[in-house]
This record gives sequence, C-alpha cells and structure tokens, in this order.
Amino acid sequence: MSGSASSGPPSPASDGARHNVVPDALPEPLFTESQIAERVGELAGAIAADPRLTIRPALALVALSGAFIFAGDLLRALYKRGLDLPVDFIGLASYGTGTTTEGTVRLTRNPALEVTDHTVLLIDDIIDSGHTLNFATHHFFDAGAVEVVTCVLLDKPARRVISIAPDYTGFQCPDEFVVGYGMDFAGEYRGLPWVGVIRPPL
Ligand code: IMP
Ligand code: MG
Repeated sequence: MSGSASSGPPSPASDGARHNVVPDALPEPLFTESQIAERVGELAGAIAADPRLTIRPALALVALSGAFIFAGDLLRALYKRGLDLPVDFIGLASYGTGTTTEGTVRLTRNPALEVTDHTVLLIDDIIDSGHTLNFATHHFFDAGAVEVVTCVLLDKPARRVISIAPDYTGFQCPDEFVVGYGMDFAGEYRGLPWVGVIRPPL
C-alpha cells in the first residue's frame, strides 16, 4: 500500500505531473446511461429468444477491448433472461491510437475456449468499415464454428467498406468518433458511463 494515511484527494506524482485523471474535455453526449441500459435489456430479450444460441452448444466471444463494458451488461441481462453462456475474449486490433482505420485486422488474442461445433455470439462495440466483424466471423468459421451470431452496440453504416450487417445492433451511430462505455480515444474515456462524441484536433 502506498500513500499517506490521511484522507482527501490523491497527492500529485512526485514529478508534479498528474496521471490518469478524467480528461478536461467532456465528450458531447450521444447515448445516456439510461438509454443504453434500456436498449441492452431489449437486445438481451431478443438474443435470449434466438434459437441459434440454444439448439447447440454456444459461447460468447467478446472483442477486446472496447466491448468489455457492453458485454458485461449484456451478459448479465442475458442471464436474467435465462441464457447463461460461457464467455471468452478475442483480441482484434484495427485501430492504433488515432481515429482512422488501418484497414487490416490483426488477431492479438485467440480465445482459449473451443469454438468447433459451437455457435459463437460475437460481441463488439462498433461496426465501422466492417473489417473487424468480417475478419472475426471468418476466423470463427475457419476454427469450426457452426454459426456466428453478431451483436454490436453501435453501427456506423456511413463508413461501411465491407457489406456485412450485424444480427443485433444497439444504436445507429453518426459518422463521428465516439468514446465511453468501454470505448477509448488514445486510452482515455473507457470508464465514462455513457457514450459521447469527441472531435479531436486534426
Ligand atoms: P471496423 O473494422 O472499421 O469496422 O472497426 C471496428 C472497430 O474499430 C471497433 O471494434 C472499434 O474497436 C473501433 N472503432 C471504430 N469506430 C470507433 C469509434 O468511434 N470509437 C472507438 N472505437 C472505434
Ligand atoms: Mg473493437
């Protein structure tokens, strides 16, 4: 344990710089906490009733890192509606620290759970160009998945390069860079409890 026993705000780092504090620039609100919670409940109702996830072994695969909070809420909502899926994580990188896609997708973490002969519920934060969802879907079929059911919180149809439509979508999203609810810009804003737009200086 570090720091003094006194209460109050954390002390600045010894070099005087402050790290990991909430950014000064507040994003422009796009989807509120209550809107997201309501929509996650609706999605869970529809997904829990999807026979593809109950007629054979199924598992949820969460795309890291931006989908982790959405997936946490969705999986709990699914459980409450009677669907208890094994969960694993897949690492997919298509963005660096900027706001534009690299066009190529890299697998940065392979799930440990078996997907052969399973239905995969793939949970991601955003579909943008479509490269990530397309890559992941092919990856799971190559690994022997029987079916891939896709669910994203946000869809940015204006930026689609690959013709692919998610099975379940939370919200249509304008062609803006969004952060919060697990999604970041250069490592910041993931813990913001709602989704907002940032317009970084070019
Ligand atoms: P795609 O491969 O172009 O469809 O990009 C999808 C991935 O890019 C998502 O899984 C996100 O990780 C990331 N992404 C796309 N748009 C945004 C955004 O506005 N904010 C944060 N991440 C984004
Ligand atoms: Mg992603």
